[in-house]
Amino acid sequence: MGMIETFRSVVQFREFELDGTKRRLSRTADVADLRRAAKRRLPFGVFDYIDGGAEDERTLDRNSTAFGRVEFRPRVLNDVSKVDTSTTLLGKPVPFPLALSPTGFTRIAHSQGELAVARAAQRAGIPYSLSTMGTRSIEEVASVSAGTKWYQVYTWKDRGLVKEMISRAETAGYEALILTVDTAVLGRRERDVRRGYTLPPKIGLDTLLDGMIHPGWTKDFLTHDPITFANVPPSSGASDGSSAVDLAGFINSQFDQALSWGDVDWLRSVWAGPVILKGIQTVADAELAVKSGVEAIALSNHGGRQLDGAPTPIELVEPVAQAVGGRIDIICDGGVRRGSDIVKALALGATACSVGRPYLYALGAAGEPGVDHVLEFFRSGMVRTMQLSGVRSVEEITRDLVAWN
Ligand code: GLV
Repeated sequence: MGMIETFRSVVQFREFELDGTKRRLSRTADVADLRRAAKRRLPFGVFDYIDGGAEDERTLDRNSTAFGRVEFRPRVLNDVSKVDTSTTLLGKPVPFPLALSPTGFTRIAHSQGELAVARAAQRAGIPYSLSTMGTRSIEEVASVSAGTKWYQVYTWKDRGLVKEMISRAETAGYEALILTVDTAVLGRRERDVRRGYTLPPKIGLDTLLDGMIHPGWTKDFLTHDPITFANVPPSSGASDGSSAVDLAGFINSQFDQALSWGDVDWLRSVWAGPVILKGIQTVADAELAVKSGVEAIALSNHGGRQLDGAPTPIELVEPVAQAVGGRIDIICDGGVRRGSDIVKALALGATACSVGRPYLYALGAAGEPGVDHVLEFFRSGMVRTMQLSGVRSVEEITRDLVAWN
């Protein structure tokens, strides 16, 4: 055979994908790739707000690196031709045990914001949590997604405001309420301090250049309706977000530092459905959560954005599961970056995991198709990990599947 024939027989030109988003996503192998793509597309201040954590960012870093200390003890020759990732969360079936954590200001990543994420969650069949600091309203999100939706609340000093939001969430068909308990005051996110970052982002002289370097984001931002705190009624006297605020000043003046276990009882008196306490960081508080009668806890340090030096969720799962497992659902929130991380958390005793940044990176990198992409990445990663470690169902993911190293 001549050289040309040999060359022809081995070289096949890949079909060129004309859709730029699909092309980019097809070359995105993991969450770190999505993060890098988001970093290229988003203005520096926006990216740092999403990506950053409190103070020295030690907790932020450890949330994900701690998963590296969990090693599998895979079983072989176990017929893994069929694996089933489905389980139940808050008493409802889910195709795989992942929920989407509430994130404020989701529209800073992409104009479709909360609507895009809620639609993608519905397609994947998993719960979506809308944040009180969301930039689309309770009703707008409900109008685009008939999937499972949870609503997240903080305790504002004005409890009337909380009550009003809760009743709107109930009317709109939200199934569970998340009370975030780690934000008596805002953590010190020093990347934002350095930039003088405000929400929504201000386009001033200093950010103009930033905007010009990131024209895709800037065009998207400027050609859509202004970002507001869509769930904070103007009657509250609080800013609706239409003018830029410094987040720490806003939260510290609006949220109640006197928040206590009595408020959990109060919440129960105004909401009939399940309650998830998000931000539990010790076994002692997990036990108090069970006593308070809530249905679930999210082991969370707010993605390393609140108390730097807080324990990492994956390291808390086992001691908490030993103390309260079976009596309450345990959600591991923080640092989950792969399907294999979900399997690790389940093996240690979690009911499910939840993620925030991964879907924000995906949204910033590629909009709604990016979110579909990352959710499928988690699902398929969980399937593959189960096949490679010899387990066929969530029930078979038991403590002996992993060891700490
Ligand atoms: C809001 O909850 C944030 O973490 O920035």
